[in-house]
Amino acid sequence: MTKSEILSLREKHLGKSLSISYNKPLKIVRGEGQYLFDEEGRAFLDCVNNVCHVGHCHPHVVEAAQNQIAQLNTNTRYLHDNIVNYARRLTDKFPGDLSVCMFVCTGSEANELALRMARTYTKRKGVIVLNAAYHGHTTALIDISPYKHEGPGGYPTPEYVHKVTISDGYRGPHKYDDPNAAHRYASEVKAAIKKAQMNEMPIGTFIAESLVSCGGQVEHAPGYLEKAYDYVREAGGVCIADEVQVGFGRVGSHFWGFETQGVIPDIVTVGKPIGNGHPLAAVITTPEIANAFANGMEYFNTFGGNPVSCAIGLAVLDVIEQEGLQARAHRVGSYLKERLSELKTKYSLIGDVRGRGLFLGVEFVRDQETLEPADTEASSIVEKMRNRGVLLSTDGPLHNVIKIKPPLQFSQENADTLVDNLDEVLALNATK
Ligand SMILES: Cc1ncc(COP(=O)(O)O)c(C=O)c1O
Repeated sequence: MTKSEILSLREKHLGKSLSISYNKPLKIVRGEGQYLFDEEGRAFLDCVNNVCHVGHCHPHVVEAAQNQIAQLNTNTRYLHDNIVNYARRLTDKFPGDLSVCMFVCTGSEANELALRMARTYTKRKGVIVLNAAYHGHTTALIDISPYKHEGPGGYPTPEYVHKVTISDGYRGPHKYDDPNAAHRYASEVKAAIKKAQMNEMPIGTFIAESLVSCGGQVEHAPGYLEKAYDYVREAGGVCIADEVQVGFGRVGSHFWGFETQGVIPDIVTVGKPIGNGHPLAAVITTPEIANAFANGMEYFNTFGGNPVSCAIGLAVLDVIEQEGLQARAHRVGSYLKERLSELKTKYSLIGDVRGRGLFLGVEFVRDQETLEPADTEASSIVEKMRNRGVLLSTDGPLHNVIKIKPPLQFSQENADTLVDNLDEVLALNATK
C-alpha cells in the first residue's frame, strides 16, 4: 500500500487518539540492528527505540521465538521449564530479597500489578509520584501519571495522589551545584507523607522511574532516591522502581537504573526492552510482598509468562551478556555524551546535555538565563534529522528535550553520524 492509502485507512478504521511520528510519516518495513528501512530500502539510524534493546530482529531472539512457538504456547497453569528458568535467571540479576517474579505483557500491566501488590501489602491507597511522571495507560496509572492527566483531555490530580518535584539539577529549583539538592528535593516527599496523613489517606506507595524518561531524560540528584525511600519506609510505605524504560544495562554503569542511586526498591517493574519488541513485562518483588498478595484471590494472566515469551526473555538476556551490551552502552554512551557536550559549547540553543550510558537527553532553550524552552526549535531539529536519516524524538513536560535511547548495538560511528548531523542542522539554524 502507498503511504496515503495507509493514512486514509488509519483515518477510517483506527482511533484518532493514536499519533504518527514526523511531519512526513515513515513507512517502515524492515529492521536490523540499530537500523530501520523504509519501503524504498532507505536506511534510518534508530536513536530512540529502547524496546528493540539488543537490536531490531536480533537473530538469536527471533530463533528462540520461532523454535518455541513451533513447539508449544500455553499458560502458567501448566508446568514448563521456560518460566522457572527465566524467573531464576531474571531474579539473579537483582540485589537483596528481590527474588520473586510475576510475568505480564506490558509495562502498564506491570505497574498496575505493582500498585495492587503495594496496596494489598500496605493496606493503603495514598501514592507519591514525580511531577510529569508517566507509568502507563490504564485507569489507575493515568491517575498516577501527571504527564497524562495534567495534559490535554486530562483531569485534576486525584486526592490520593501526591506529586513531588523531579530532582532536576538543570531546570528544577535546586541546581547541579547544590550539594544539598537531594536532601531538598526529598524533603518534598516527607511533606507529602505528612499531608497525606492529615487527609487520612496515608501513603502506601512511592513510585518513581530510576532515571526519568517522559519527564525529560533526567538523572536524579545523587542520593535522592535513598533519602526519598527512607522517608517512605519510615512512614510504612513501599517503594516501586519503574525500570520500564531504563533497565537491562542501558545506563551502562549498572544493569538497573536504581543501582546508580545505591538503593534496593521493594518492587521493580520492567517492560519494553525485556522482550526486544515481544509483549513481555514483569514485576519483581520480595517474598514478603508476594506472599501478602497471595491472599486467596488468584492472579491469572492469560499471556503473561507463556513459554514463548519466556524463551524470548531468556534469549534477550543471552544477547546482553554474550555481546557485552551493558559495557558497550557505557563506552559508546560516554563518547556520545562527550561529543554532545562539545556541541553545547558551540550552540547557545543547547541548555543541557544529561543522562547516562545510552539514555541521554539534550535540552533546548532560547535563553540560557531564563531557560525559555525552545520547543518548536527542538521539534524542527527532529524533523530535519529525520530527513537526514537519523530518527530522534522530543519529550519532557515542555517538549524541548531531544531523547536518545537507541538499541544497544549503537556504535561509536553511529554516535558520530548523530552528532555530525546535529552539528550541521544547528549550524544552519544559527545562520538563518
Ligand atoms: C516509564 C514507563 N512506565 C510504563 C510504561 C508503560 O508501558 P507500556 O506502554 O508497555 O504499557 C511506559 C511506556 O511508555 C513508560 O515509559
